[in-house]
Amino acid sequence: MEEQPVQFLWRRFEERLEPARARLAEFLGARRQDCVFVTNATTGVNAVLRSLTFRAGDELLTTNHDYNACHNVMVEAARRTRARLVVARIPFPIVSADEAVEAIVKAVTRRTRLALIDHVTSNTALVLPIQRIIRELAARGVDTLVDGAHAPGMVAVNLTQLAPAYYTGNLHKWVCAPKGAGFLWAREDKQGTLQPAVISHGNNTPRPGFGAFQDRFDWAGTFDPTAWFCAGAAIDWMGQLLPGGWRELRKRNHELAVKARDVLSQALRVGPSCPEEMLGSMATIPLPERIQGEPKSGKIDPEQLWLYDEFGIEVPFVRLGQPEKRYFRISAQIYNTLEEYRYLADALQLL
Ligand SMILES: Cc1ncc(COP(=O)(O)O)c(C=O)c1O
Repeated sequence: MEEQPVQFLWRRFEERLEPARARLAEFLGARRQDCVFVTNATTGVNAVLRSLTFRAGDELLTTNHDYNACHNVMVEAARRTRARLVVARIPFPIVSADEAVEAIVKAVTRRTRLALIDHVTSNTALVLPIQRIIRELAARGVDTLVDGAHAPGMVAVNLTQLAPAYYTGNLHKWVCAPKGAGFLWAREDKQGTLQPAVISHGNNTPRPGFGAFQDRFDWAGTFDPTAWFCAGAAIDWMGQLLPGGWRELRKRNHELAVKARDVLSQALRVGPSCPEEMLGSMATIPLPERIQGEPKSGKIDPEQLWLYDEFGIEVPFVRLGQPEKRYFRISAQIYNTLEEYRYLADALQLL
């Protein structure tokens, strides 16, 4: 890119982007013309919510498990349009996926216009029954914007089957593409009014062979598109690591997360926060009772800093609910082994 930026960014841009888009579309069970790249899921959520207009009194629905950055986008969309932000309260710990569906459906009124629903929740690491939620919401006339930041590569995603109004996700998490590889998918009938978070040349510069949706999103000012170009290669690379391809990789990671949760829960004498079927390849586990009371003191909890400094373990600590309870979240990718979670369990015993 630095040697010949014009070749890379301009003359040969589409020729590198299109194979990546085609592979992405196939991976997501989608049509190419419905997919665009964005830098990350936050940008995808911004594009959708900043494109929509609501009326005073309309309701925007989210859940108490949403991702803070995306929650802020909802707050701003509601403020700008004088809509009301409604937060459905999904319990945590949770006993069954039905509880999530019920909490969301219960929060819908005849004024609800759009719901932001995570496919895999961030802090609580729950795989929500997204197909059921999209259907229940659609039956009540509510569009769903799925925040799939963690989903592609962790769980199977078929957008033709799911058919929400919008779906955004990251490839720089479970597909291991370079950072900056995200996507936004929009159902055909929703594309007309959708603007990227950053408006650039595409709005009045059509390219032969491309739809207006792609023209608008493909260029967001000068940037490094390497991550987008690599998306197809990342999907292929990860998909050939095990003989059973992506299906086997997802299964292997899920099984490791389940076993790791068991090992850690037994060592710390804590119970499960959700049923096994709601786990993908992450799990959120309560911290032991003896360190529950510690108040938040800095950007990162001292115990989390200590785990990295003393043991080389990077594991996020989170505080959830009212009254606040402390948890940590583990992840299981192909390069992880059960031994590593035993090592974490031993370290946590020392707290
Ligand atoms: C549910 C959810 N949404 C959005 C994001 C934000 O992703 P990004 O920072 O890549 O935009 C995350 C990141 O962890 C997430 O878990």
